[in-house]
Amino acid sequence: MTERAILVLDAGTSSTRAILYAADGTVLGHCSRELTQHYPAPGLVEHDADEIWRHSLACAREMVAAAGGAERIAGIGMTNQRETVVAWDRATGAPLARATVWQDRRTADACEALREAGHEGLVQRRTGLLLDPYFSATKMAWLLANEPAVAKAGERLAFGTVESWLAFKLSGAHLSDVSNASRTLLFALDGHDWDPELLALFGVPRAALPGIVGNAGRFAESRPEHLGGAIPITGLAGDQQSATIGQGCLAPGQTKLTLGTGAFVLTNRGTQPPRDPGRLLGTILCEVGGVRHYALEGAVFVAGSLIQWLRDNLNLLDTAAETEALARSVPDNGGVVLLPALSGLGAPYWKPQATATIAGLTFAATRAHVARAALEAVSHQLVDLAEAFAAAGAQWGTLRIDGGLSANDWLAQDLADMTGLAVTRPSDVETTARGAALLAAVGAGLHPDLPAAAAAMIPSGVRFEPRDLGAERSRRLDAWHLLVAQA
Ligand code: G3P
Repeated sequence: MTERAILVLDAGTSSTRAILYAADGTVLGHCSRELTQHYPAPGLVEHDADEIWRHSLACAREMVAAAGGAERIAGIGMTNQRETVVAWDRATGAPLARATVWQDRRTADACEALREAGHEGLVQRRTGLLLDPYFSATKMAWLLANEPAVAKAGERLAFGTVESWLAFKLSGAHLSDVSNASRTLLFALDGHDWDPELLALFGVPRAALPGIVGNAGRFAESRPEHLGGAIPITGLAGDQQSATIGQGCLAPGQTKLTLGTGAFVLTNRGTQPPRDPGRLLGTILCEVGGVRHYALEGAVFVAGSLIQWLRDNLNLLDTAAETEALARSVPDNGGVVLLPALSGLGAPYWKPQATATIAGLTFAATRAHVARAALEAVSHQLVDLAEAFAAAGAQWGTLRIDGGLSANDWLAQDLADMTGLAVTRPSDVETTARGAALLAAVGAGLHPDLPAAAAAMIPSGVRFEPRDLGAERSRRLDAWHLLVAQA
C-alpha cells in the first residue's frame, strides 16, 4: 500500500464495524462485531456503551494492523446510530448508565405532555423535528431524573450521542458534529451552538454537552495508546447523513433509502433549511468547508430488525437472507399483512404507542407468507413516505438503496414496483461507512471536496425498473392502510 488509507468506525444499532478504505474507495479490510441488545421491559431498548467502545477499539486495532500501522492511516471517519444517548463521567471515562437507544419509547408520556402544553410548533420550526421519544433530549432529561449516578455527577457529567462517546474515548475530546446535533431537539437547523431556549425547555444542562464541529476537518487525534499512534479524526456524521453522502446524493432532490436496523429515506434539499416538512423531519445533512446542506428525512423505525426478530424471537427463519427465497416461494402474501410497529411507528404516522400486528392469518398461512408480508411492509411504508415527501415538495426521482437488507433482490424489485420508481443499488451496500470515508478523506486532504471524493470513491451498481402490479398493488395498500388506521 503506497497511499495512506482511511479508517472508518461505523457504530450502528445492531453491530459495530471498522472498514479500511483506499483513497480510490477500494475496501482494504473489514471487521464487524454484533452488539448486545438489552430490552429490560416492553418499549425499553438499551446498549452497554462500554461494549460499543470495546468492539470499536478491537475492530479499529485489527484494521490498523491490516493497514501496516497507524502511520499508514491518513484519517479516521466516524459514523453512528443517531439519537442514542450515552451519559458518562468525564473524569473516569466510565458510563454512568446504560445508553438509551433511539428505539426506546420510555419518554412517550413526557413527549405527549410537552405536546399538550403546546411546545411542538416551536420545536418543529426550530429543529425540524417532532416531539417523539425517538430524539435525544427527553432521553437526557429522563436519565437526569431517574438514574442516580447521572443526577449526582454534577460537573463531571458528560452527555453525548455515540460518535461523541467514541471520540471522547479515542481522543479525550468532547465533541459532536452538526448532523448528530441536529437529531437531539437541542440544536436549531440554522444554529451554531446548543439552543438556550430548547435546553431550558428540556432541562438539559449546557455544561454536560459536547462542543459542535462540522463534518470534515481535523477535529482531534487518537491517543497513541489506543491505535499505536496519533491518527487524526477527520470525518464525523450520523449514519443516515453519512449514507446519503456515500450514495453521492450531493445535489438537491437526490434521494437514498438505507435498509439497516430501521429504514431511513433522506432527500437532499440544498443549502436552505427545509420548511413545511409536514410529518417528515428537516435535518442537517452536512457542513463541509463552512457550507451547510440540509435534507428531508423519513424515519421508519423497524426494517432489518423485523427480520432479526422473526429469526431470533419467533424462530421463523434460520437466516435473514432466507426471506428472499421464502418470498419468492409463494405467489402472493396469501392475505397476510404485517404492521411492524415493534417500537411504535415513525414517519409519516408517528404513533409511539403502536404495537405490531400480524393480520390475515388462516390455516393456509405459512412462514413463507409471513416472511413475504414482512418484506412487503417495508415497501408499504415507502409508498406512504413517497406521498408525504411529494406533499412537502420533494418528489423522488430514482431511489438509491443501500444497507444490509437492500441485498435482498426480491425486496429491491418490490420497492420499485410499489413506488413506481427505478431503484438503484451500489455494488457495495455498506454506504454508511463509505460516506464517512468520503468525509474523512476530504478532512484529511486526500480529496479537495465531496464531489471529488464521490467521483473517486463511489462504485457503480445495479438498477431495478418498476413493473406494473395491476390490482394487486391497491389490494395490498388497502389492507395495509386498514392496519395503520387500527394501530
Ligand atoms: O436514527 C437512527 C439511525 O441512525 C439508526 O441507524 O443503521 O443503526 O439502523 P441504523
